[in-house]
Amino acid sequence: MLSIEPRGNEISMSGKTVLITGATSGLGLATALLLAERGAEVVMVGRDRKRANFMRTEIAQYASGSEPILFLADLSSQAEIHRLAEKLHGSLSRIDVLINNAATVFAEREVTPDGLEKTFAVNHLAPFALTHLLLDLLRAAPAGRILTASSEFHSGELDFSNLQGQRQYNWLGAYKRSKLCNILFTYELSRRLAGSTITANCFSPGPTLTRLGDNMRGLPAAVPWLLKRIPSLLAFPEGAARTPVYVASSPDLDGVSGRFFRQCRETHTKQITYDNSVAVRLWNMSQALYESRASAGSRTE
Ligand SMILES: NC(=O)c1ccc[n+]([C@@H]2O[C@H](COP(=O)([O-])OP(=O)(O)OC[C@H]3O[C@@H](n4cnc5c(N)ncnc54)[C@H](OP(=O)(O)O)[C@@H]3O)[C@@H](O)[C@H]2O)c1
Repeated sequence: MLSIEPRGNEISMSGKTVLITGATSGLGLATALLLAERGAEVVMVGRDRKRANFMRTEIAQYASGSEPILFLADLSSQAEIHRLAEKLHGSLSRIDVLINNAATVFAEREVTPDGLEKTFAVNHLAPFALTHLLLDLLRAAPAGRILTASSEFHSGELDFSNLQGQRQYNWLGAYKRSKLCNILFTYELSRRLAGSTITANCFSPGPTLTRLGDNMRGLPAAVPWLLKRIPSLLAFPEGAARTPVYVASSPDLDGVSGRFFRQCRETHTKQITYDNSVAVRLWNMSQALYESRASAGSRTE
């Protein structure tokens, strides 16, 4: 197992193009700021034009290289993900680092226009789809890196008959399931990319004071509300972002793939994440959903 101390956060990202989803808040914003400061060309994906423009100006103030570029997309919509990928292909010749960071939680079960449960759609199927659609741009980089934000608080089991909370829903279960899917996806992606120039890893920032959960109302909102009032439990995003910055930039991780990092160290994940048959089953189900939404989208376009 790798146990690497970070060499420091001063590693230059000059000349590297880094795409970050959810770059307008919390961990994604802090990661974008740090990478821009180190010279990366930061490509932000946001969903709210006003908020995203404001954050782009903030990031630009830190950038030591090119100005950040902004794209807008609601990642709960597979059609928007496809449109985003098309636009990215029109603007970028390669992506050195893709950071699938955006995620959310919902107090009640909500369904997207694609018919997908929203936590599953944003937290798992969006990274699955976006990564597939951008693989050629990652291949065009000398050594593309794919990072997906997960959490040590991922589920220890996966009930495929309740993958989208269709039989039973609670917000924490849906969130933890989506974070398990992030790890299973990463480990399987890494196996499928073996022998290529691209690596795939996941990470947890650890408990961090962000806006995650601020959209919830009612009783479920009490949990994040209470946690955020015990500051000693939570890191600030600037500190927590050291891990994704490390995984995105450290030369120590050249060629390292299929790992989970926390506090800039490789960490074990729950037993189920090492079950290849579970990962392949999730992959096949995700692929089928992604392809059916893609063909439905092309029929209505
Ligand atoms: N905070 C923690 O304690 C913690 C712990 C472990 C792992 N994580 C992981 O860290 C990552 C970042 O979360 P955070 O804590 O920084 O939360 P956050 O402050 O709520 O940021 C989440 C980001 O995702 C974006 N987003 C949400 N739904 C979206 C959608 N439908 N389309 C496009 N973008 C969407 C948000 O956009 P807006 O800015 O427009 O709202 C926001 O920029 C997540 O993957 C989370 O699971 C967090």
